[in-house]
Amino acid sequence: MEKIKYTVKIKRYNPEEDRSYWQDFEVEVEDSLTVLELLMHIKDKMDSTLTFRAFCRSAICGSCAMVINNRAGLACKIQAKDKIKRGVIKIEPLKTLKPVRDLVVDQEPAFDKLKKIKPYLEADPKIVPDNTKVESLVLPEEFARYDKQTDCILCMACYGQCNAIEGNPEYSGPFQLTKVFRFVMDTRDGMDIQERIKLAEDNGIWDCVQCQMCFAACPKGIASCEDILELRRVAKDTGEDNVATRRAKFWFETVFATGQIDKFNLPAVALNDEKGEEIRNNLAKEFTQRGISQEHFVPQPFENIKDFQKFIKKVEKEL
Ligand code: SF4
Ligand code: SF4
Ligand code: FES
Repeated sequence: MEKIKYTVKIKRYNPEEDRSYWQDFEVEVEDSLTVLELLMHIKDKMDSTLTFRAFCRSAICGSCAMVINNRAGLACKIQAKDKIKRGVIKIEPLKTLKPVRDLVVDQEPAFDKLKKIKPYLEADPKIVPDNTKVESLVLPEEFARYDKQTDCILCMACYGQCNAIEGNPEYSGPFQLTKVFRFVMDTRDGMDIQERIKLAEDNGIWDCVQCQMCFAACPKGIASCEDILELRRVAKDTGEDNVATRRAKFWFETVFATGQIDKFNLPAVALNDEKGEEIRNNLAKEFTQRGISQEHFVPQPFENIKDFQKFIKKVEKEL
């Protein structure tokens, strides 16, 4: 087996001194190692104090998620040689969780957010029998709607890569919202759909910035970003007066009136709470600082707006 030489740059954390620092390890190892095997080599041969989590070594337990060359993933699934750039591989703890020591992070805040969305089936007595001798049947086509999402191993790679959490630590997180999606789609779930949707709305479906990084990080190919879009759609289609319905109504009204989206007022109208007002006030400050006068905060109708409105009405009639 071929051996290769490179530098492993590891971001370590010392809790006694509350200090993070980078440490370089020069290694000469077989080119077949996974990142986890590389860390084990360093721990065995170079520095026994290096701390990281791992268990199954087979991408099943979800313990070894970390950031490798700026991308979160499972250390046991990623080949080290694929990540060497100019003779260096960079390894650090998941960015949105606090380190406990070296590459080990405190997962509790993410699990606390998971608990908030009630991540369990509330069996519908009309569908789920109350005795264990009768099967609770799910049709293959029903299961296909959330089959992929059941593969989640709670590794938190998506959470560690989520841009919405970096900007707003209160945001629930991708795998938590995927869990809401999974139960919204489950035909055996007896919780009122509006209650599930409220849990999703209260915990951030509208805060997701659709950067798709959760999908890029997920070792199981789960696209939480898509699940969040689907939850928004369900919220709009099933709700009467929620963020989704207010957002859709205002969006259509302003596009019809001006031909453009009123991004200044949209969050405040959709959220209809103090948070929405705060966003509007912050936008007003931002616009003023950039020299935009108040009458230009909202879009003005463009020149041929009447033609555009006629076209929209025609399309509406054809629908
Ligand atoms: S798409 Fe949304 S949930 Fe996924 S990483 Fe980006 S902000 Fe987070
Ligand atoms: S969705 Fe994917 S990345 Fe996120 S916790 Fe589940 S398995 Fe890990
Ligand atoms: S050690 Fe279990 S997923 Fe990597």
